[in-house]
Amino acid sequence: MDDTKIFLPESEIPQAWYNINPDLPAPLAPPLNPGTGQPLGPEDLAPLFPMELIMQEVSMEPWIEIPDDIMRIYKLWRPTPLHRAFALEEELGTPARIYYKNESVSPAGSHKPNTAVAQAYYNKQEGVSRIATETGAGQWGSALSLACSLFDIECLVYMVRISYEQKPYRRLLMQTWGAECIPSPSDRTNAGRAILAEDPDSPGSLGIAISEAVEDAATHDDTKYSLGSVLNHVLLHQTINGLELKKQLAIAGEKPDMLIGCVGGGSNFAGFCFPFVKDKLDGQDIDIIATEPTACPTLTRAPYRYDFGDTAELTPLLKMHTLGHTFVPPPIHAGGLRYHGDAPLVSLLVAQKVIEPRAFHQNEVFEAAITWARSEGHVPAPETAHAVKGAIDEALKCKETGEEKCIVIAYSGHGHFDMGAYEAYLTGELEDYELPQEQIDEAMKSVPEVSGPA
Ligand SMILES: Cc1ncc(COP(=O)(O)O)c(C=O)c1O
Repeated sequence: MDDTKIFLPESEIPQAWYNINPDLPAPLAPPLNPGTGQPLGPEDLAPLFPMELIMQEVSMEPWIEIPDDIMRIYKLWRPTPLHRAFALEEELGTPARIYYKNESVSPAGSHKPNTAVAQAYYNKQEGVSRIATETGAGQWGSALSLACSLFDIECLVYMVRISYEQKPYRRLLMQTWGAECIPSPSDRTNAGRAILAEDPDSPGSLGIAISEAVEDAATHDDTKYSLGSVLNHVLLHQTINGLELKKQLAIAGEKPDMLIGCVGGGSNFAGFCFPFVKDKLDGQDIDIIATEPTACPTLTRAPYRYDFGDTAELTPLLKMHTLGHTFVPPPIHAGGLRYHGDAPLVSLLVAQKVIEPRAFHQNEVFEAAITWARSEGHVPAPETAHAVKGAIDEALKCKETGEEKCIVIAYSGHGHFDMGAYEAYLTGELEDYELPQEQIDEAMKSVPEVSGPA
């Protein structure tokens, strides 16, 4: 087949999300109550999430049907195209066949609306009128703002202060969709005020912004909290992408040898590869590669431990690869990859060696992004560029060995609001960071000593 884009008709959009939980090679460690060290019950999460999402979080059903009202909105941009990267193949002179599944075509410019729309829908169903959330680089905040506007829900976004200042257009996008966006740390919450008292110029972090949004939801009766990654139900909603990809690869007559995506909290990567993890566990030979920054090397260097999801210790304890919840990553430009932890589901599969992690420096990542932009044309988000870098490396290995591998990239978003990062790269001002082991050891001191239920 020599098509450059492989489309699916709308009638072929998968009708259900895939839940990997029953197919895991080992049981997932449950979230724990930090006070008691005991597994959480659904009622513990009820102040923060609508019950339907809590049930999805713990579900052992392999398939969860997608409601019609969500499907109607998905059709604004889904199915997303699968592209063959012919121009990049030619530029690299590789015998590999490179494909990318393009989630940048959503209204917000990334995969994030796949779960934002689902979360807004279930909140609306349960009568919630206001949702609070955090955002790092602004992709998640804009996706949730979009979804809330479509379901007529008020949306408040705590945006990490440094991004708020560096990325005014992401903030304006949120405001265009009717959301309120404020810099975090803020004076609206105890968590924010405590940080500001210590450091009035704090640049903020994702961990701090999560604390603020969780506190906001827990202290307002009309408000729930929404998270854009990490949790099982978020990864579940993203599987619509990998399920579409399976159908598109079948049309192209391909079986993937290698799937490559970037991991911040793990949602785009999981949604893209989980439907293939079962094939791998059933014996199919597929390399599944997760890429991340060396400046925030959670999957490649961090221990697999129970830890808090936020800085102020308001969340349950999750078992994950964590650099410690007090860890503040260096200010790299892939803001969506600056999180101290990872999804428990992705963490488990890395610990089980089903998924192989790799870390890259930001200069080599931007070099790959430029090669991509000057051949394929699309300008990737800095996060997405980590996946592109991983794929280019593999395609160049194929050039040496002559292997004609089928490599598929999770193209999670475009970089149109990240031109400041591109400017820093193009003017030679980007710094690479290799995290010293002592810094990891220091942050790990904040991680509680909990082993979880036997
Ligand atoms: C374009 C893009 N890709 C990837 C990520 C990383 O998040 P996740 O690992 O949840 O997909 C983000 C997060 O903001 C993003 O905006």
